[in-house]
Amino acid sequence: GESQKGGYEHFMLKEISEQPKALKDTISPRIDESGNIKLDEFPTNFDNVNKIYIIACGTAYHAGLVGKNLIEKYAKIPVSVDIASEFRYNNPFIDKNTFMIIISQSGETADTLAALRLGRKKGAKILSICNVVGSSIPRESDYCVYTWAGPEIAVASTKAYTTQVAVLAMISLYIGKLRKTISDDEYTKVLNEIKSFPQKAESVLKMESEIESISSYIVNQKDVFYIGRSIDYYVAMEGSLKLKEISYIHSEAIAAGELKHGTLALVEDGVPVIALATQNRLFDKTLSNIKEVKARGGYVIAIAKKGNKEIEKEADVVLYIPEIIDELTAPLSGILLQLLAYYAAKKKGCDIDKPRNLAKSVTVE
Ligand code: G6P
Repeated sequence: GESQKGGYEHFMLKEISEQPKALKDTISPRIDESGNIKLDEFPTNFDNVNKIYIIACGTAYHAGLVGKNLIEKYAKIPVSVDIASEFRYNNPFIDKNTFMIIISQSGETADTLAALRLGRKKGAKILSICNVVGSSIPRESDYCVYTWAGPEIAVASTKAYTTQVAVLAMISLYIGKLRKTISDDEYTKVLNEIKSFPQKAESVLKMESEIESISSYIVNQKDVFYIGRSIDYYVAMEGSLKLKEISYIHSEAIAAGELKHGTLALVEDGVPVIALATQNRLFDKTLSNIKEVKARGGYVIAIAKKGNKEIEKEADVVLYIPEIIDELTAPLSGILLQLLAYYAAKKKGCDIDKPRNLAKSVTVE
């Protein structure tokens, strides 16, 4: 009811705003006195693991894509990420040396649960990342690391996403330390950045009115495109999903380098393109994609790290996230895109917390 919204107009905005706390509650209990990650709920031996599958649906799948990047970088184990409803109908290589990470806010998504059961049957070890304590997925897993985001009511997932990414980041460091694939210095550096999530998430929330005013541009559009590379692409996918599910504006995320292989044909005068350019190592590449879009008359809303003035010369408007290492931008750019979608949907007068045709937890296959 109204009272549960704590003064917010929608659960979605309440849950977006709760992210600094959700992140803090998820991260801090997993850091011990000596400043190391402790995951009591986690296996301590990865010697025989030769492959990781990350399986999920929807927003949790997008968190999983970010997790792949982090685990491959810090733990040096090959990771495949798959959509639960696809995984079982392809030909996954699962045996006793396979480690599966199942991500689900609700812990009840039917396809995700079925993928878990298939993995189990074939001998994989299963770790789940869930938000609902005692739900089916953690009950059937070998291990579970909970996201302590608190109840998520709005159909569109927000705080579950950012806390899932935080858990995946911690897992990647934890496995990296066990396997000695990360140096102590880098471990400390990355962990310090993870600890900065709550405070930096707070800074992104302070941009609310700026984001609200920029959202006006997309409200009356037919299509919105999101582009980015690597982690920016994965966040683009999540931003696009947020927009389409709550505002009913058609949107698509495209790997920026893939634009010229098709989607660029749809960019003409005034078409909005949300360009994520937060990855330092890929900045020049993404900038050249922004130029391609501008050359066709597209309207570019760029997202970059603070201090990056160069992008202002190319983009129509720029929204800045706080400085953070490339690997960990997802929660910050993610929150920004949640707010953008929220305000676009609000200006259209949509039923934000309960979008048509969608359910919070999909318990049928
Ligand atoms: C539904 C929800 C999404 C969610 C997806 C997966 O489609 O509307 O917000 O990301 O299910 O749900 P899960 O509970 O497994 O994370």
